[in-house]
Amino acid sequence: MKPLLKFITCGSVDDGKSTLIGHMLYDAKLLFTDQIKALELESKLGSRAGNIDYSLLLDGLMAEREQGITIDVAYRYFTSSHRSFIVADTPGHEEYTRNMAVGASAADLAVILVDVTQGLTSQTKRHLRICALMGIRHFVLAVNKMDLTGYDRKHFEEIKTNFEHMAASFNIASLQVIPISATEGDNITENSSHTPWYTGLPLLPYLELIEVGQTPAQDQFVMPVQRVSRPNHEFRGFQGQVETGTVSIGEELQILPGNESATVESLLFADEQAEEASAGQPITVQLNKEVDVSRGSVLTTDKNLQVNDMLSASVLWMDDRPLHSGRNYLIKIGTRTVPGSVMKIKHKTDTNTGEKLPADRIYKNELAECEISLAERIPFDKFSANASMGSMIFIDRVTNMTSGCGVVERSLQRSKNIEWQKTEITPDIRARQKGQVPLTIWFTGLSGSGKTTLANEIEKRLASAGYHTTLLDGDNVRHGLNKDLGFNEGDRVENIRRIAEVARLMNDGGLITLASFISPYESDRENAREIIGNGQFITVYVNTPIEVCEQRDTKGLYRKARAGEITSFTGVTGPYEAPSHPDITVDTAQYSVEDAAELILSEVIRPKISR
Ligand code: ADX
Repeated sequence: MKPLLKFITCGSVDDGKSTLIGHMLYDAKLLFTDQIKALELESKLGSRAGNIDYSLLLDGLMAEREQGITIDVAYRYFTSSHRSFIVADTPGHEEYTRNMAVGASAADLAVILVDVTQGLTSQTKRHLRICALMGIRHFVLAVNKMDLTGYDRKHFEEIKTNFEHMAASFNIASLQVIPISATEGDNITENSSHTPWYTGLPLLPYLELIEVGQTPAQDQFVMPVQRVSRPNHEFRGFQGQVETGTVSIGEELQILPGNESATVESLLFADEQAEEASAGQPITVQLNKEVDVSRGSVLTTDKNLQVNDMLSASVLWMDDRPLHSGRNYLIKIGTRTVPGSVMKIKHKTDTNTGEKLPADRIYKNELAECEISLAERIPFDKFSANASMGSMIFIDRVTNMTSGCGVVERSLQRSKNIEWQKTEITPDIRARQKGQVPLTIWFTGLSGSGKTTLANEIEKRLASAGYHTTLLDGDNVRHGLNKDLGFNEGDRVENIRRIAEVARLMNDGGLITLASFISPYESDRENAREIIGNGQFITVYVNTPIEVCEQRDTKGLYRKARAGEITSFTGVTGPYEAPSHPDITVDTAQYSVEDAAELILSEVIRPKISR
């Protein structure tokens, strides 16, 4: 039996998509296998050479579905005498790009439908482009409603030529153009007598026969090393969970990063010797020779796998909140999930025209080419070479929702001329010399909430107790380091990123750092925590009611904002997201500055800073 074929149908209701699927099933007397059977099929085939491999991309998106976001893709399962099929049926409207991308990400082939009376439309091009971007290499163009043109060959050939021309700029492995009538049943399961000039296969037989193949590297063995086990001087084993593929004794493995290779000498599965191990199993691998392996190394049979922390990817955004460069997400690539951010949006692609447009952010349903930086070096591959190790999803750090998905285009090299320099006076020595534990105390809240007043009071108390401190304040930093930044969302992301980097440098210098910034977005404060280090970061939420801030209006900015003279003013015309887990919350309308400062010092600062 042929392996399962996963395909997607693209086209609008008017193109006759449902009729086509319905007719195909009816004519061929196919029945939908029920969901449970389909799942059995899935798991049975799943262990065979990657026949069903819901790529990680899809897993992530499935998880999203469990979280309650509906992605409008209906998966239908059916079986003919020659093959089993999963068809992803997605709505065809423009705003459903993401649904189509989700469907396409798991498909091997796309059936694009056009109405012969309409010819190729901008939608046809969009479908082709999204499917190609999501890695589909096999296409069928079903030219429908042939009956309405009296099965006119010339009309059909014209559409065929134009489509072939359109498809030429994509990396396509196979294309079949079939004249059909979904309502009349022409060329669906049998060759139609109305189109004697069409010599190819009808749609269903074509789908039963086509060889799609997996991306070559998809079943390769990949295991990140979690632990090096050395119970005695004779035994050195590498423990981890097999992420993909299988491994057996005698097989040659690459050790990443680095160029070494070695052969598997023994395999242990739950303390028992094993001949072979496969995806999902926790194992211990012993190699035939001494090689440089440590936690974080990757053992693999895939010679092309990269281990890196920078890459370029095509990203499709799915979140209502736009993607800004610099903002931090959890990024799941292949087998790993690590913090990371888009360093640069190289351009976005108009899904209708393919035109490349400059952009500093991307909105829901938009596609862009991005340079991505990860917090750790992890294994991945180009999507075109290995769909499971080359697909990625973006997870919002605050809501835990899937915000976007993408495919790795290539690995990027950091500038070869820059290396992290190790110096002899370490952050720890600097801190010890000052007799303190460096910290960043991050004050967030509305303008006028009292952040800087409080930070100032706390700094005074720390300084008079002999601590070494520094204070970073929004207005002040914007006079120098950040004078190029304004108050739109993208600039605020960058503002907070730079401040966090500065705070980290101050901490490395041994200083206790007080940072007072509105920092209205939770994800950016989380990014700051990431940069500075969780153990060194304290969030103080200065939760003074807006009415009080506005009444104080020390800088006259609320008045200007209400008069429409300042745009996106936090709390008035711009958002403020309250921290969900601050270390401490104070309302300066309720406490005097002295009492609030003392509270913060005794509750969260003093317990951490004294040696
Ligand atoms: S943040 O939002 O990017 O964190 P930051 O704390 O650096 O802001 O700067 C805020 C200060 O800039 C405010 O205290 C206020 O004095 C001034 N400011 C000027 N325009 C705005 C605005 N549109 N929204 C908020 N603050 C503004």
